[in-house]
Amino acid sequence: MIGGYVDNYKGEKVVKKIALFVDSEFRGKGIAQMLMHSVEDWARSLPNIKTLMLQVYKENVPAIRLYKKLGFKVIEELPAAVAKNGVEYDDYLMAKNI
Ligand SMILES: CC(C)(COP(=O)(O)OP(=O)(O)OC[C@H]1O[C@@H](n2cnc3c(N)ncnc32)[C@H](O)[C@@H]1OP(=O)(O)O)[C@@H](O)C(=O)NCCC(=O)NCCS
Repeated sequence: MIGGYVDNYKGEKVVKKIALFVDSEFRGKGIAQMLMHSVEDWARSLPNIKTLMLQVYKENVPAIRLYKKLGFKVIEELPAAVAKNGVEYDDYLMAKNI
């Protein structure tokens, strides 16, 4: 499962908040990479989109490794970006030019 949407970031039209989930039974088989490529293909088909963006928990090593492998770079650290059950989590904001 994967999602994302077109929005503005600092005056630029971008595909933002890309998020994906692969069922644990099917992980490690390249499915996330395939889903990310499909989002990238979709973004390339849209007019005036040159950047993909996403947020990820700083502790989410598998996802960060996936995104870096696909060419995303950390552009900002977002302290206390998410709060769950009273606990705050830091995010990385990552981006890739397409
Ligand atoms: C992160 C997630 C999407 C990866 O899905 P996946 O289908 O297993 O990933 P892939 O098989 O396509 O792996 C692609 C790359 O991701 C990285 N990766 C994936 N799982 C990893 C793990 N457990 N540890 C380290 N790196 C990992 C690797 O770089 C891997 O490339 P490699 O196989 O050449 O080393 C999956 O673990 C998941 O759904 N996690 C829970 C939800 C989540 O964290 N979503 C992302 C945040 S929005």
